[in-house]
Amino acid sequence: MLKENLSNALNRQFNFELYSSYIYLHMSAYCDRNGLKGFANWLNVQAQEELAHAMHMYEYLLERGNLPVFADIKAPDFKYNNVIDVFEKTLSHEQIVTGRINEIATMALKENDHSSYMFIQWYVNEQVEEEANADIILQQVKQIGENTSMLYALDKELSTRVFINPFPSKLSTN
Ligand code: FEO
Repeated sequence: MLKENLSNALNRQFNFELYSSYIYLHMSAYCDRNGLKGFANWLNVQAQEELAHAMHMYEYLLERGNLPVFADIKAPDFKYNNVIDVFEKTLSHEQIVTGRINEIATMALKENDHSSYMFIQWYVNEQVEEEANADIILQQVKQIGENTSMLYALDKELSTRVFINPFPSKLSTN
């Protein structure tokens, strides 16, 4: 069983990953309604990834003998001016996630819980990629500015992203 502080932190993160999924789906809907189906696809895949992160944490809590706790998920209240704004919010959200993951890693080390430390290392590495992906698209949309043909070219590129679940479920009976 996990120490109480660690199980609380992982439970909070389980819920925060669900919130992240909510946020990206909200952004995806905005892009879709503004004619940017490729951006909408990229963000929809991001929402699915966040859901996979949540499920991974849910399963880890169960595996360690803890009951996952379900908290209220805050509704996204963002308003977006344009896709630059969407990706500025994406990057700043991922920076918040990185801070939270680092805190869990530090806590796991302090508690001498090496399994949890190993578990959270996947996210430590993942966050480098998450921030880099958001940042590169942010830089691109900033450079594109008002150039609609370049925006549509990037939209087409982002339409090719597909969801690959990095964690086949241990709970699945298939
Ligand atoms: Fe689950 Fe984007 O961090």
